[in-house]
Amino acid sequence: MRKALVAGNWKMNGTINDVKELTSKICQTEWNDVDIMLAPSFAHMHSVSEILSGTNVLLAGQDCSEFDQGAFTGETSADMLADLGCTHVIVGHSERRQFFGDDDLRVARKARKAQIKRLCPIVCVGETLEERDSGKTTEVIERQLCAVFEMIENKFVIAYEPVWAIGTGKSATPEMAQEVHENIRQYSAAHSHANGSDLRILYGGSVKPDNADELFSMPDIDGGLIGGASLDSESFLKICCSAAKLIN
Ligand code: 13P
Repeated sequence: MRKALVAGNWKMNGTINDVKELTSKICQTEWNDVDIMLAPSFAHMHSVSEILSGTNVLLAGQDCSEFDQGAFTGETSADMLADLGCTHVIVGHSERRQFFGDDDLRVARKARKAQIKRLCPIVCVGETLEERDSGKTTEVIERQLCAVFEMIENKFVIAYEPVWAIGTGKSATPEMAQEVHENIRQYSAAHSHANGSDLRILYGGSVKPDNADELFSMPDIDGGLIGGASLDSESFLKICCSAAKLIN
């Protein structure tokens, strides 16, 4: 059985005071039926980590380096994240792929480095609008997954985030998302070390309180990776409630 997971990806937003307040509000509720995770920027990680200690809310990095350590200005190593209490790290987010040159191979190396350092990678995949419109969704996602599966062991999470749905207010329909999630599960069962039925596959892309119920009702959607709506505690907590109610 798969336990629901809802992760807030805060991206590059807010001040230390903003994120402290947000974290404290999110921690006021105790969750058992759903894993809650927060991914602050590295600059805010220590402050958030302090508030999370003693709670069961999980902490994740938004990215990590493919390298161990050394002269890599601006990078964050998997060890640094683990040191601050992270259990997970997002790799291959479409914003990293689009703006920072993270190609399939680098994403795979980051996922592998995360696992070596005992962090669970959350591997993001997703197609652009152009790729969807030309019927290439499955091909693109399988290419992205294949690169990672060649390098990693069995403990990982996948996040399906269609690029056209991120930050646009235009979520995939539940049926569209379900179709891709089902394919991802089958492909992963056949081509990775994961047991397909245990693999958690999150949906991300304009998840809001008013569409979370219908998305989380789908059999292969095990939770969400939430951007904009996770910056508002009330919205994020409503999405967590939907997951707790509908998944498992
Ligand atoms: P939005 O929820 O703002 O569309 O962002 C999704 C996302 O990129 C989460 O990683």
